[in-house]
Amino acid sequence: MNLYQPHLVKIDSIIEETHDTRTLKLRFLDPEVAAKFDFRAGQFGEYSVFGAGECTFCIASSPTRKGTIECTFKSVGKATNAMRGLNEGDTMGFRGPYGNSFPLDRMEKASMVFIAGGIGLAPVRCVIWNTLDLRDQFKDVTIVYGARSVADLVYKRELTEWEARKDVKLWQTVDPGGETPEWKHEIGFVPAIVEKAAPKADNAYAVVCGPPIMIKYTLPVLEKLGFPPERIYTTLENRMKCGCGKCGRCNIGPVYVCKDGPVFTAAEMAKLPGEY
Ligand SMILES: Cc1cc2nc3c(=O)[nH]c(=O)nc-3n(C[C@H](O)[C@H](O)[C@H](O)COP(=O)(O)OP(=O)(O)OC[C@H]3O[C@@H](n4cnc5c(N)ncnc54)[C@H](O)[C@@H]3O)c2cc1C
Ligand code: FES
Repeated sequence: MNLYQPHLVKIDSIIEETHDTRTLKLRFLDPEVAAKFDFRAGQFGEYSVFGAGECTFCIASSPTRKGTIECTFKSVGKATNAMRGLNEGDTMGFRGPYGNSFPLDRMEKASMVFIAGGIGLAPVRCVIWNTLDLRDQFKDVTIVYGARSVADLVYKRELTEWEARKDVKLWQTVDPGGETPEWKHEIGFVPAIVEKAAPKADNAYAVVCGPPIMIKYTLPVLEKLGFPPERIYTTLENRMKCGCGKCGRCNIGPVYVCKDGPVFTAAEMAKLPGEY
């Protein structure tokens, strides 16, 4: 089969997360492909709208939930705007999974700290559900999630679900000025809330995804709390074309983000050329 030929997927359902962000649940049309399809938390795919183009999104659902995959995307340009025009029942393309993944087997028996900003919760949500579906294999689970405003929070129904769980500590925050009169959670930027939550670094891993500025100011907080850079993970979102190491679009020096990443530790990122 041609490397670039996508599998056909049908849109099972659409959730409007915010005014510009949607989650699609996708089902493979070919039952043989559906039965064989497997992926690991952190991997991504190339999603296509016929006649409009392809775009790269993480797989936002957990590999523990078979049968469908989900992506959550913000409409920013040509392909994502065309994707926003699709409806339930429509067919689109998917190729993947590509890239490396979060080493969940290495993280077993440890505490997990998930930190996300805005739509950065999409890749983290995949690992959160993967962890919660195997809950007895992990110690404490802490989630810190922030968005610019209440209207910008994604996966609101799941935030409610995580908040109600006794085995999850959830901290939700919005930037100052982004709150509504009903907002009962934190007001402040994600790094400050991580400092306030102060998750224990002992036998713990942190997964951090969000805008570069959030990551930049969160890493020193985690290091101050005692997290070594080898135990802090993030994903990079360099622009991609092939997704599988052929075109050279995504590289940072000798590192191909599509093949060697998109998941990197803070220790690995510190060795990359330029500011990452
Ligand atoms: C590994 C990976 C995972 C990703 N996961 C998600 C996800 O889960 N959800 C999601 O909404 N987006 C995600 N992205 C970003 C997404 O790929 C782009 O937003 C999308 O491809 C834009 O396509 P477009 O044709 O609509 O935009 P275009 O018309 O190509 O561009 C519109 C604007 O967006 C900018 N842009 C496009 N791609 C990127 C990028 N990678 N980084 C920064 N700016 C960009 C362009 O410079 C331009 O200003 C991910 C990217 C990578 C590499
Ligand atoms: S996207 Fe083509 S080599 Fe990485």
